[in-house]
Amino acid sequence: MSEQTFVMVKPDGVRRGLVGEVLRRFEIKGFKILEMKQLTISPELAKRHYEEHVDKPFYPGLESFITSGPVVAFVLEGRKAISVVRKMVGVTDSADAEPGTIRGDFSLEKGENIIHASDSVKSADREISNFFYN
Ligand code: RTP
Ligand code: MG
Repeated sequence: MSEQTFVMVKPDGVRRGLVGEVLRRFEIKGFKILEMKQLTISPELAKRHYEEHVDKPFYPGLESFITSGPVVAFVLEGRKAISVVRKMVGVTDSADAEPGTIRGDFSLEKGENIIHASDSVKSADREISNFFYN
C-alpha cells in the first residue's frame, strides 16, 4: 500500500546547501516526488504546522528558527513512506541520530536538525494540506 508523507528541509538545511543531498537520498531510495516548493514560513503557518508544540517552552525558539529563512517542502509517495522516511531522517536530537541517517550525518543539534518529516498518517494528511492544495 502506497503512502504519502510531508517532508521539509528546514532553514539550516537550505542555508547549508543540503537540499540536493536530502532529495537525492529519497530519490535513490525509490520515492516519487509528488510536490516540491520553496517558501518562507510565516509565524501563523509555523503555529499551524507545529500545533502540538505551541504551548511548550521550546516553541518560541522553534518558531524563530523555522521562520528564519526559506524551507523546501516536498510530498513524497511510496511504500510505507511515513515510517521509512522517519527512519531515514533519524531521531530528533541529531547528536543521538544514527550515522547513515540525515540528522546523524549532517547535524549535531536538537533544534537545527535539517529536516522535518510527518510522524503518522493523520499528521501527514494535515501537514500536506497546510502546505499544498489549499
Ligand atoms: P520534526 O517535527 O521537526 O520533524 O521533528 P521531530 O518529529 O523529530 O520532533 P518533535 O518532537 O515533533 O519536535 C519538533 C521540533 O522541535 C524542536 N524541539 N526542541 N528543546 C527541545 O526539547 C525540543 N524538543 C523538540 C526540534 O527542532 C524538533 O525537530
Ligand atoms: Mg514532529
